[in-house]
Amino acid sequence: MRMYDIISKKRHGGKLSDEEIAFFVRGYTEGTVPDYQAAALMMAVCCRGMDEEECTSLTLHMMHSGDTVDLSGLENTVDKHSTGGVGDLTSLVVTPTLAALGLNVAKMSGRGLGHTGGTIDKLESIPGFNTSLSMEEFISQVKNIGIAVIGQTADLAPADKKMYALRDVTATIDSVPLIASSIMAKKLAAGAESILLDVKYGSGAFMKTREAAEDLAGLMVKLGKKAGRKMGALVTSMEYPLGRKIGNSLEIMEAVDILRDGERSDARLVSSELAAHLYSVATGCGIPESRELVNRTIDSGKTYEKFLQWIKAQGGDPEAVDKGRLPLSPHRFELRSPADGYVCSADTEGLGMASCILGAGRVTKDDVPDLGAGYILHVSPGDRISHGDLIATLYTSDISKTAPACDKILFSLRIGDSRPESLPDLIYRFIS
Ligand code: URA
Repeated sequence: MRMYDIISKKRHGGKLSDEEIAFFVRGYTEGTVPDYQAAALMMAVCCRGMDEEECTSLTLHMMHSGDTVDLSGLENTVDKHSTGGVGDLTSLVVTPTLAALGLNVAKMSGRGLGHTGGTIDKLESIPGFNTSLSMEEFISQVKNIGIAVIGQTADLAPADKKMYALRDVTATIDSVPLIASSIMAKKLAAGAESILLDVKYGSGAFMKTREAAEDLAGLMVKLGKKAGRKMGALVTSMEYPLGRKIGNSLEIMEAVDILRDGERSDARLVSSELAAHLYSVATGCGIPESRELVNRTIDSGKTYEKFLQWIKAQGGDPEAVDKGRLPLSPHRFELRSPADGYVCSADTEGLGMASCILGAGRVTKDDVPDLGAGYILHVSPGDRISHGDLIATLYTSDISKTAPACDKILFSLRIGDSRPESLPDLIYRFIS
C-alpha cells in the first residue's frame, strides 16, 4: 500500500477502505508517513469529505493508536464534552451533580487555547488542586467519591495529537468528519459508558451556525453508538459568553455562585440541562424526571458538598473556594460604556480573546496562563445601557494589557439603537 495512492483516491472523491485508513493512522503515528503526505490527505478529506463508514474507521483507529482507559471495574461511568467556548463553566456544575446523584464521573479534560477556556486550567486555579493523578489514583478516587477529573494523558489517542497539530497549521481544522473523529477518538479512549456532548454554535464556537453544529453532533452521536456507548448531544448557543465571569479562578467563583448561592443564570440553566440529559442517557430515566432530580440536587446543596469533597480529594483547598480566597490578579479596572444603546449581539470569539489578552489564556500551546486574570461582564444581550454604565471589571497582572483588552471588549460588543427583536436560543435541540 502507498500513501500516494490513498491521497490520490481521496482527492478524486473515492471512498477509503478500513485497511487504507489503518495504514495511514499507524504510519503517521509511528513516523513512517511524513507530515507533507498527512497534510495532503487532510486537505483532500476537507475538500471531498468522508462517509460515515470512513469516519468510523478513522475514529476507531485513532482511538486505538495509544492507551485506552479501562473503566470496566466501575458501574455507570459518565463523561461530558463541550466543543468549547467562552465562560463555559458547565463541567464544574454538571460533574459534581451527577456524582451526587450516584453516577461515576471519570473525566479527562483539556486546557484552554485561543479564545476558549479549559476545565483543567480552571481547576488548577484552586490552590493545591492536582490534575495529573496516576491512572490508579484516578480510578480509585472515582470508586471512593464518584468523581475525578484529570488532564489528558500523553498517550491518549496520540494519532489525533499529531493530526490536530498538523491540521492547525494547514487550514484543515474546519471539516466535520475530521473534527468528529478527533473528538470522539479521545472521548472513546477515555472509557466512559455514557457520553453527553455539548456542541456549541455561534460567534464564539467552531460551528458558526445551528445547522453545522447539528451535523457535527449527529455524526458524533452515531460514532459513539457504533463504538457501543450510550450517547446524546445538546446543541447550545455560544452567541454570547455563557457565564458572566470569564477567566480561570473567576469561573470557579461563578460555579460557587450557582452551587452555593443559588444563582439563576444562563450558565445554571445550560448546566442543569446538560446534567439532566446525561443522567437520562446513562440511566434511562425520562428527561422531566431527570431534570427534577438534577435541580433538586443542586438546590439542596448536595452538588456543592460533592464539589468541595472532590476538590479536597484532588489535593485542592476547599476553604479557599468557600471563603473566596482564590487568586485574583492585582490590577483591577472598570470599563464603562462610551455610549447609550442596547446590547444587540457580540463577537464572542473577540470577548474570549479579551480574557486571553489579560493573561488568562494561551495564544500558543506553550504559554502559561495567569490563573487569576480575566473579567466580569456586567451586561447581557438585550440590556439597555447608558453612557458611563459599568460594562466589565477587568483583572490582570500586567497593567499594560488593560487598554487593549478594553478595546477588544468594546469592539466585540455590538451596541445598537434598538432592543434586538429576538435573542438566540440558549438550547437549540437534543440529539440522541
Ligand atoms: N477539538 C478537537 O479535539 N478536535 C478538533 O478537530 C476540533 C476541536
